[in-house]
Amino acid sequence: MANAATQSNVRRLKDMGVRVLPPAEGFLAEGYTAVGRMPDLDVIQLFVDTYQAKQPLAGKQVLVSAGGTQERIDPVRYIGNDSSGKMGTAVANAAAAAGADVTLVATKMLPVLPAVDAVYVTSAAEMHDAMLANFEGADLVVMAAAVADFRPTTVSGNKIKKQSGDDALHLDLVQNPDILAEMGAQKSHQYLVGFAAETNDLVANAQAKLERKGADMIVANPVGYGQGFNTDTDTVTILRPDQAPLALDEAAKTEVASTIVRLAAMAM
Ligand code: CTP
Repeated sequence: MANAATQSNVRRLKDMGVRVLPPAEGFLAEGYTAVGRMPDLDVIQLFVDTYQAKQPLAGKQVLVSAGGTQERIDPVRYIGNDSSGKMGTAVANAAAAAGADVTLVATKMLPVLPAVDAVYVTSAAEMHDAMLANFEGADLVVMAAAVADFRPTTVSGNKIKKQSGDDALHLDLVQNPDILAEMGAQKSHQYLVGFAAETNDLVANAQAKLERKGADMIVANPVGYGQGFNTDTDTVTILRPDQAPLALDEAAKTEVASTIVRLAAMAM
């Protein structure tokens, strides 16, 4: 790849208006590590989708949240969860590939396409403010973040110390705002997608969330040890008002994200 002749040929192609996806770095058949490997298939798929003519979300504003929130206990500790941000980021990239201008509000910064404007937040309160600030102008909102339901009532200014003679620590927690439900109550033209992370009674619990939160779609996601959070694949069921549940086969999160975006675009 680094060879001068190859470089000059690539330059010529670019000069002719050809879009070039650069190769990935990795172990090569020649027996050493360098730039020259075929990129991952989902990277190729996204690249093709980005430039293909059919872009169902062209001209649309999409707002996505991703990752697990962190609720401060003291300067060195927080309450968190296992969400990696992979699904939300994949949704943001899939929406960008479908032609949208995307705002991603995330607690984890993963690679995004150029059309994605990423805003970094940590707590549920910060995520709430960033989502609501961008809500009015959005056409499609996807709440993929794992928002902590509770936060410590007060944040200790100093590191909490063990107290001699007391072998327990009691934390007082207060409920966080439900961002999805708030947007569900406020929405006018927005198409609103939420997730339901469930360890049991997947469809029944997710159906209740669809109704309770005023969403147009809930992606029901089984979670547990080694499942759902921080994995590269998901087995989800899609619920929409007045439609039969759509159970998808296990697939890469990038593929699930494209399906969610495609279904939402069709309904908008
Ligand atoms: N959600 C939210 N704000 C919260 C909690 C959850 O916006 N404070 C959103 C999530 O981003 C997700 C949906 O609501 O899109 C469902 O989240 P989930 O954690 O599955 O459910 P909860 O509302 O927390 O309900 P429960 O704890 O009963 O499972």
